[in-house]
Amino acid sequence: MLKTKLCGHRLNNPLLLAAGVMGSNASSMNWILESGAAGVVTKSFSKEANKGYNNPTTVEVTGGIINAIGLSSPGVESFKEELKKINKDVNGNTKNNGKIAIASIYGSNPEEFSFVSSEIEDLVDMIELNISCPHAMKGCGAAIGQDPNLTYKIVSKVKNSVKIPIIAKLTPNVTDIGEIAISAENGGADALTLINSLGPGMKIDITTGRPILHNKFGGMSGPAIKPIALKHVYNVYESVNIPIIGVGGIRNYADVIEFLYAGSSAVQIGTSILYDGPSIFNKINNDLGDFIKSSDFSSIKEMIGIAHRN
Ligand SMILES: Cc1cc2nc3c(=O)[nH]c(=O)nc-3n(C[C@H](O)[C@H](O)[C@H](O)COP(=O)(O)O)c2cc1C
Repeated sequence: MLKTKLCGHRLNNPLLLAAGVMGSNASSMNWILESGAAGVVTKSFSKEANKGYNNPTTVEVTGGIINAIGLSSPGVESFKEELKKINKDVNGNTKNNGKIAIASIYGSNPEEFSFVSSEIEDLVDMIELNISCPHAMKGCGAAIGQDPNLTYKIVSKVKNSVKIPIIAKLTPNVTDIGEIAISAENGGADALTLINSLGPGMKIDITTGRPILHNKFGGMSGPAIKPIALKHVYNVYESVNIPIIGVGGIRNYADVIEFLYAGSSAVQIGTSILYDGPSIFNKINNDLGDFIKSSDFSSIKEMIGIAHRN
């Protein structure tokens, strides 16, 4: 009943791990898969290693957290060793179990994106292009996803370099997200993920009088951003013909239903794992299953985009 499809891949349910939370190594991602997620997105990584920002990199605020990790990355060569172990059997073959691995990658130009994509396409099921991080170093992240031409160039370069489906992850920090979504679709994106963290925002320590994060500013995530994420999914659904993966503040099954109704084909969960642990995936699956049983729906597919029809 919860089974669904995304870019040709069979999923046991519509729940995926969002990039950046428990996605730095294979063992934590396998834990998430064993906890009921139908897929994991890795923490974003790049061609070369990048140390990221100094601590503190995260701070809790009302309704969520603010993070400025600065896209720390071990570099593609090192991260390949983790990718080889996600959802694999003892012989290193991908388990045919309705679960998928998605690599989130970043770079500062089309060549870097395509290089990293080619290096890893045999190790994962899909690639998510992080062109949306609000606290990346110059030239990376949202600097790309705020520019429709650059978005097009990077998506099309990767599309021409690999055979597996590619997803463009968009930033909400733009005037018109629909314009960027259309550029990504025209570039050949097979799906879109929205949204990356919102902001930037900040928190100040009232005893020292200083900003808490080392980078001062960071991206906001968690339940407080859900209404904004939902609105972007709703709008973009009307602008493109490719599947949307909704993410932002999902905490329970009702939130998932809202994202499906707005037009998401699947959803990702990040910050709520910090509150509820990996068991959030099985809990939401059980509650979502109960909801569907008591409704007139017989599949996830029937629920997608309902809010546009009424
Ligand atoms: C600690 C932390 C690290 C993150 N790192 C990444 C990342 O590496 N790449 C990325 O595309 N998004 C990253 N994100 C953004 C999430 O994937 C997600 O888009 C955002 O947090 C909204 O979803 P949520 O409210 O469920 O966390 C990160 C979020 C958090 C909280």
